[in-house]
Amino acid sequence: MQPRHFISLLDISASEFRGLINRAIALKNHRNPDYQPLKGQVLAMIFEKSSTRTRISFEAGMTHFGGNALFLSSRDTQLGRGEPLEDSAKVISSMVDCIMLRTFKHETVTTFAQHSSVPVINGLTDEQHPCQLLADMQTYFEQRGDIQGKTVAWIGDGNNMCHSYIHAAMVLDFKLHIAAPAGYQPDKAIADAAGNRVQFFDTPLAAAKNADLIVTDVWASMGQEEEQKQRCAALKNYQVNAEVMAAAQKNALFMHCLPAHRGEEVSAEVMDGPQSIVFAEAENRLHAQKALLEFLLCAK
Ligand code: CP
Ligand code: NVA
Repeated sequence: MQPRHFISLLDISASEFRGLINRAIALKNHRNPDYQPLKGQVLAMIFEKSSTRTRISFEAGMTHFGGNALFLSSRDTQLGRGEPLEDSAKVISSMVDCIMLRTFKHETVTTFAQHSSVPVINGLTDEQHPCQLLADMQTYFEQRGDIQGKTVAWIGDGNNMCHSYIHAAMVLDFKLHIAAPAGYQPDKAIADAAGNRVQFFDTPLAAAKNADLIVTDVWASMGQEEEQKQRCAALKNYQVNAEVMAAAQKNALFMHCLPAHRGEEVSAEVMDGPQSIVFAEAENRLHAQKALLEFLLCAK
């Protein structure tokens, strides 16, 4: 039997998503050091890109649960020297209980999962970042309750985070307003699949109108460093600043998956202002992923 993977938010149902959020909140608020459901279990973490939050949250989460996490950089494994993905998936999954993979092409994770005998978690691809959305949604629910029927505005690059916001809108049933310049729009097939839950706007101000949550991300993602200058020019009118926040609901929140570039996609005033919950959001990576590990690895 194929194990349960977490490669996209579309892999979980609405009730599973809400279950993970509630469990993450409970794990956060009632930490019990004696609760070690993953004692003796091993998570392999394969990173083909840099990470602060993802690495630390998975590693700390496994330790809290009594297990172990292995940090594997593709540079130092045979993966970086061209050992076929299929062979690597078979070998690594024969030795560990779960595998997290952060990579470039989304197909790398789907192929890896097809050949893995243990659950595979997408720790970010060029196309999606579903783990971040578990934390973002936990953070919204903690502050404001269920997000169903609310309006979220995505301002900026239509990147991997934007795609995962589209998926979250589909699963949790909220409206997503997107303002992204031509050439930087999200993938059409991903957006089309969301139907009228996703709406496009010409300006950040129009997208932000009446929003309950404003979200953005860097203008040049990992792997796009060489396009930095050109991207900054194309996206310069898409900064989340005080004017954009003022167009939203009075009590609107601001989120960013981090790392952030103050003065580019977000002004320092918003990033460090009272509506910003970016550091609670970052901390929740730990709690949300502990809930995810328990969901994937503990017999129900
Ligand atoms: N938000 C996020 O995934 O951060 P890292 O790149 O530091 O893991
Ligand atoms: N869009 C960013 C997210 C980083 C967590 C990137 O892919 O680099």
